[in-house]
Amino acid sequence: SNALKQGEFVGSLDCGTTSVRFIVFDENADIVAQHQLEFPQYYPHPSWHEHDALEIQSTSEECIVKACELLEEQGWAKESIKAIGITNQRETAVAWDRTTGKPLCKAIVWDDSRTKGTVAHFQHKLRVEGIEVEKGVFKKGEDGIKALRDITGLPLSTYFSAIKLCWMIDNYDDVKKAHDEDNLLFGTVESWLVYNLAGSAKTHLHVTEPTNASRTLLMDLHTLTWHEPLLKFFGLRPSILPKLVSSSEVVGHLAFGPLAGVPISGLVGDQQGALVGNKCLEQGEAKCTYGTGAFLLFCTGSEPVGSKNGLLTTVAYQAGPGAKPVYALEGSIAVAGSAIKWLRDSMGLIQSAGEVNTLAAKEDSTGGVYFVTAFSGLLAPYWDPGAAGLLIGLSSYTNPSHIARATLEANAFQTRGVIESMKLDSNKDLKHLKVDGGMTNGDLCMQVLADLGGFGVVRPEMRESTALGSALLAGSALRLFGWDISKPETLAHVNTRGNTNFEPSLPESQREEMWSRWQKAVERSMGWDE
Ligand code: G3P
Repeated sequence: SNALKQGEFVGSLDCGTTSVRFIVFDENADIVAQHQLEFPQYYPHPSWHEHDALEIQSTSEECIVKACELLEEQGWAKESIKAIGITNQRETAVAWDRTTGKPLCKAIVWDDSRTKGTVAHFQHKLRVEGIEVEKGVFKKGEDGIKALRDITGLPLSTYFSAIKLCWMIDNYDDVKKAHDEDNLLFGTVESWLVYNLAGSAKTHLHVTEPTNASRTLLMDLHTLTWHEPLLKFFGLRPSILPKLVSSSEVVGHLAFGPLAGVPISGLVGDQQGALVGNKCLEQGEAKCTYGTGAFLLFCTGSEPVGSKNGLLTTVAYQAGPGAKPVYALEGSIAVAGSAIKWLRDSMGLIQSAGEVNTLAAKEDSTGGVYFVTAFSGLLAPYWDPGAAGLLIGLSSYTNPSHIARATLEANAFQTRGVIESMKLDSNKDLKHLKVDGGMTNGDLCMQVLADLGGFGVVRPEMRESTALGSALLAGSALRLFGWDISKPETLAHVNTRGNTNFEPSLPESQREEMWSRWQKAVERSMGWDE
């Protein structure tokens, strides 16, 4: 039993919104071992969504331990894991105590929209006082909004992490006190995990990297540094922020359990991770990941492209310290898989997520039902925190299958909405969309996407793209297997398994008719909660 083989693998800790997984990849991106666990979700009030940062940490540790056991059961020594990447749900905000290292409150999850009032406050401030764009020069009103976009790539929205942090300081005495006394540390989930998994007590390793930092509203997209006037604008102390490192370099070493001593050498937000894992590393390549939400990213290469049509400009990855960043345009949809979870857990219409496809397949249309899944307002391209979830077109004819089908259609329509914006911003048509994420397991779901989107859908066989992306970044930092993220040709042998294609089969006229009904439904859902 002691004769364990020595290999060379990369581990990836993928910490998503509802579950954590630890996946061990070999040099071709084949999975050698993996373990996945869900962790608790807290919804204490309408529009609130929280996580316990300590539970995220313990779930992560458990996944690492279990995956290592499985690796050994297959005859491989755990020392075969040479590097670790971490990828995470992005805008979720964690506030912890610099002295004790303990969280000061529950983490506010990215799709939580309790911060509408905070957004309104800063909207007003942006209009009246403006932000400083160079010494003594302030931009306000519409110019202020544009300046904020130029600096950060983002609009003011409940989605981004600095807004959540401001809310915590305003509403939780402990967080305010820690901020006042300079005893507060802020970070997104990768930052929190590195701090803990690398043994915070000794190392005080408080870092983040540009893909996560580009979602805070505090980072200058062009220089990849914290933007001091924006910190002032939001009333935040610079010392609470993590140090910015690149997405691919050794930032520290694991300090616990079976992998103690293994370098952590790749950090990336999960959606950018999926872009990298799909090898969309160069201008013009796009993917959409259907997890809790859906996130379509379009790589724009070395230039940040501003959007005039409701998309975000974001960092795709930074290949190493000092490397020129690669950028992307992103369309973020808050609700995708979470609508199916809702059908299962709150409505009881299905027993398992996959069943949504069988239920929807019982009808060949929604019987006129449209479902705007605006559970926490609408993100791209509408950016309306006041939009409300809406089921319209109900009649005594409506049955659960119609609703299930309308849920799949909502997903397709929202994707099309984002793609329409991408076309306008990039002047390019999209022939095919590469997809991954839990929802893409359903063939009907994918066919509905192709039919209503009017484009081909390409589903790769190996769909753990998010985890793979962080593994590629972690491996590249050490030039393991000759991988080098800045030279795509070095990744030619990675993840070359086949694809399944779904082509649109709905007549054009029907597609357009349904699209215009959907847009009407969206208009009705918007502005409900002013
Ligand atoms: O922006 C939020 C995103 O990073 C969450 O991704 O896969 O957990 O839905 P996911």
